[in-house]
Amino acid sequence: MDDALLMADADARAAHYLDSVATRRVFPDQQALAALREFEEELPVSGYAGKSTLALLDTVGSAAAVVSNGPRYFGFVVGAALPAGAAAERLMLAWDQCASSFNNSPVAATVEKVAARWILEILDLPREGAVGFGTSATACAIACLSAARRTLLARCGWDFDRDGLSGAPEIKAVVSDLAHITVIKALRILGFGTARLLIAPTDDHGRIDPAQMPPLDDRTILCLQAGEVNTGEFDPFTALIPRVRAAGAWVHVDGAFGLWARASSQRPPTEGVEDADSWTVDGHKWLNTPYDGAMAICRDGDALAQAMNSDAAYATASKDAQKNLTLEFSRRARGIPIWAALRSLGREGVGEMVDRHCRQARELAERLRGAGYEILNRVVINQVLVRADSDEQTIAIREAAQALGEAWFGPTVWQGRPAFRLSVSSWRTRDEDIEALAAMLCRLKKA
Ligand SMILES: Cc1ncc(COP(=O)(O)O)c(C=O)c1O
Repeated sequence: MDDALLMADADARAAHYLDSVATRRVFPDQQALAALREFEEELPVSGYAGKSTLALLDTVGSAAAVVSNGPRYFGFVVGAALPAGAAAERLMLAWDQCASSFNNSPVAATVEKVAARWILEILDLPREGAVGFGTSATACAIACLSAARRTLLARCGWDFDRDGLSGAPEIKAVVSDLAHITVIKALRILGFGTARLLIAPTDDHGRIDPAQMPPLDDRTILCLQAGEVNTGEFDPFTALIPRVRAAGAWVHVDGAFGLWARASSQRPPTEGVEDADSWTVDGHKWLNTPYDGAMAICRDGDALAQAMNSDAAYATASKDAQKNLTLEFSRRARGIPIWAALRSLGREGVGEMVDRHCRQARELAERLRGAGYEILNRVVINQVLVRADSDEQTIAIREAAQALGEAWFGPTVWQGRPAFRLSVSSWRTRDEDIEALAAMLCRLKKA
């Protein structure tokens, strides 16, 4: 079978799958999970035809896919994939560009540059900033935090690239007691040491309490959050950032999903975030682009470009080449689906989608409150944090809902007790889907 026929087969199967995302079980049933055994083959000696490989992937794999690209997946703020972004990925696969720099791929470098400009505009972050398109908020946090430490060390006269950390002045990191695990992971990988992190206590809503902030100086990186993972809350940027930067510290913001509130009428709690030094934000969550697409954004573009530089005699490039702004050297053009999503939605479309999800989250919270659930957060954006009458009932309802397969959402722990978290972030979620979710949860509460 030639290239084109195999691709047409894949496209037909993909279209068939997409046709069913509104009606499929959201999490695969036991039969579909058991069938995954069919993948447990020996490594073939001579190889199978592409058609048979695709057929196995589709017949066994599609049935066992979690329908996060559907309207009734409410776990983990994952979002679905907008058609324009997914289609751009499909074309990119045909190009198979190594999108390191203009020399490797003029088209990728050009489109990603436009995407970077649009991202700074729609998120209203400093227009002079650099944007690296990386695999995830985790990877982008590693890039930003390494630029942060390298810059603070340079200000103390320490050459991190040459001398490393041995004997270097200590750079401290301050994180909220509710910092996302991947920010802790990034700091751990970079050698900050979890026992040496300074912890900033949070208030009842999950925001850092400025009155309890540990001491900060010009050898400190403060990590703030735009969108706490349970509550969706924002740290008090205006109260914190000017004073922290005046002390010479570096402010990094994890805005994996919450930074998108800035593109909508939900912007007020994000005010002041633009004064930070660096930000991470995902495309693959609330912008609804395919995985993996995230951004490392740095006010001082040179700081990111120097930290991430990978120029070699055989591969020199401009400082804003993506290989010099991200962890990757060979890379897919992650900015292209992000560009395609922004181009298809426009500023208004992004704002409308974010606003719609926030409205749906508020309406869902109201319905659940009316059914006797406790809503544990203020529902400032798209997260609804829920508890039933007892811990046992909370867990039982979540398990029963998952088993039904009509929707999916995950567990969490809030202030030491079980809860569940409903994240509204798929472009496919209609008001009827919210109504169906609320009705199911009301039924389960009465059962
Ligand atoms: C608040 C927050 N920060 C960081 C991350 C990590 O993002 P990623 O999965 O893209 O690494 C997530 C999501 O999983 C998140 O919700």
